[in-house]
Amino acid sequence: MKRAVISDIHANHAAFEAVLADIEEQGCEDIYCLGDIIGYGPDPRICITLAGKCALNLLGNHEEAVLFGAIGFNPKAKAAIDWTKEQLSIEGQEEENREMWNFVGGLSKHHKEGDILYVHGSPRDPTREYVFKQDIRDIPKMDALFGAPPDFEWKVCFAGHTHHPGIFSQSTPYMFHDPREIDHRYEYSTRPERILVNVGSVGQPRDGDKRASYVIIDDEALHFRRIEYDVQRTLDRFEENPGLPDYLAQRLTEGK
Ligand SMILES: [Fe+2]
Repeated sequence: MKRAVISDIHANHAAFEAVLADIEEQGCEDIYCLGDIIGYGPDPRICITLAGKCALNLLGNHEEAVLFGAIGFNPKAKAAIDWTKEQLSIEGQEEENREMWNFVGGLSKHHKEGDILYVHGSPRDPTREYVFKQDIRDIPKMDALFGAPPDFEWKVCFAGHTHHPGIFSQSTPYMFHDPREIDHRYEYSTRPERILVNVGSVGQPRDGDKRASYVIIDDEALHFRRIEYDVQRTLDRFEENPGLPDYLAQRLTEGK
C-alpha cells in the first residue's frame, strides 16, 4: 500500500494542484481526504471537483458549517462560510450546484479500514475536536482520545483540523513528534503503540511553514511531505474575490 492522506485544502486551488502533482510523482495508489475541502479560500468549486478524484472524502467542520450553520466559528471564518455558500449556489449553474451540494451532503464523518481510523477532528469527535501538541499533558483527554471509539481498536488514526502536522503516540508518557524533529519519517509498523497522525493542511498551513502539507503511508512508514506552491496565484484569487476577509490571504504568506 502506498496511500496519500490529505486534509484541509480550504479552497486553495494552487496548493491542491501542487499536492496532487506530487502525489502522482510519488506513485501513490490512492488518495484519502479528511475534509475541509472548502471554507476560507477562493476556489471552492474547482477544489470540490478535484476532490472527486480521491478514493475517500470525509466531512470537515467547514463542510458541516455550510450544511448546518457555522456554530462556534469566529466572524472571519463565518464570513468565509457565507461567501462559500453563495459560491455553491451560482445562478445559471443549477445542475452543477446540485452536484456540489450532493457531494458535500454525502460526506461521512469517519472511515474504518483494517486497523486504521480516518477522521477530520479526533477519534471521539470526528468532525470538531482539536488535538494540539500541548494536549499530551492533558492525560484524561489523551486517554479518552486513544480509547475512542469504543467499538474499534485502531493502530493508526489519521486526522487533520488543527493544520499542524505531527504524531501523537500512546507511549508513557504521551508524546508528540514534530515532523521536523523526526526527519519527516516515522516507522510505525515495528512499534507497538497506537499513533494519532495529523497530516497538516494542504491549503492553509499554520505551523510557520507556508508550504502545503500532507502524508504518505506505506507498509512500513509515514512520510510527511511539504510542497512549495504558487502562493501568489492564490493571493491573486483572493484579490478577485473581495467578499473574503484579507486576513485569510495574509496568513498564507506566513504559514500561520
Ligand atoms: Fe480546517
